[in-house]
Amino acid sequence: MKSAIAALSVRSQSLLQHVISAEQYDFWMRQMGLIEAWSRCFARVVAVAQTTPDGVVLSLKPNRHQRRLIAGPRCAVSVEVAGRNIARSFVWSNSEDGRYMQVSISRQAADPVSRQLLEDTAVGDIVELLPASGDSPPPTLDARSVAPDTALVYLRRSEKTVSVTRGTSLLEALELAGVKPTYGCRRGICNRCSCTRIQGQTTDMVSGESSDEPGHPVRICINRASSDLELDL
Ligand code: FES
Repeated sequence: MKSAIAALSVRSQSLLQHVISAEQYDFWMRQMGLIEAWSRCFARVVAVAQTTPDGVVLSLKPNRHQRRLIAGPRCAVSVEVAGRNIARSFVWSNSEDGRYMQVSISRQAADPVSRQLLEDTAVGDIVELLPASGDSPPPTLDARSVAPDTALVYLRRSEKTVSVTRGTSLLEALELAGVKPTYGCRRGICNRCSCTRIQGQTTDMVSGESSDEPGHPVRICINRASSDLELDL
């Protein structure tokens, strides 16, 4: 049953979008102990090797989103600390057989993430991987530390993932994140800011209506993210 769910194709995932949100999908995958996710990169710890008194190498088996989200020599590892998800950036490489990611964790003074990864991480645990700050794609390292107010937006054409606030229009949020989308009136009239939704849910800030129809246009000047998103932008 679990393996069948984990093997969901992109096609069946697009059908599921009509009955379940990306957040709900991810939640239930975690509840079943799976690393499968809608668009986020989760990984299972398959080995923990102590390399120094203050250093370990975690071997991680990531889900299918690793290649899309993790570029460059560093990645951010997000763990729950006192009820909050906090991420820190670490160097990673492929294992010799190429099957796993190996992330080098070294203790950093007063950093709860490195302390938790060093002291409390065991084989079988699941962590979330995010692009490291400065890499492409570049969300902030603590993107998940204020999870209820933020969403990750993957921009397919730019091949970037950015962290945006859910409280403002996508246009403003993307601009704050350093992206420069095309726009005109900024009031939902001219349609110049419109782009196609690949997946995820948005809310129209004028009508209050939410939509998660894949392939539909989104006017980013008057829509805000209400889940993680993928846009053809
Ligand atoms: S900028 Fe005119 S509709 Fe969005």
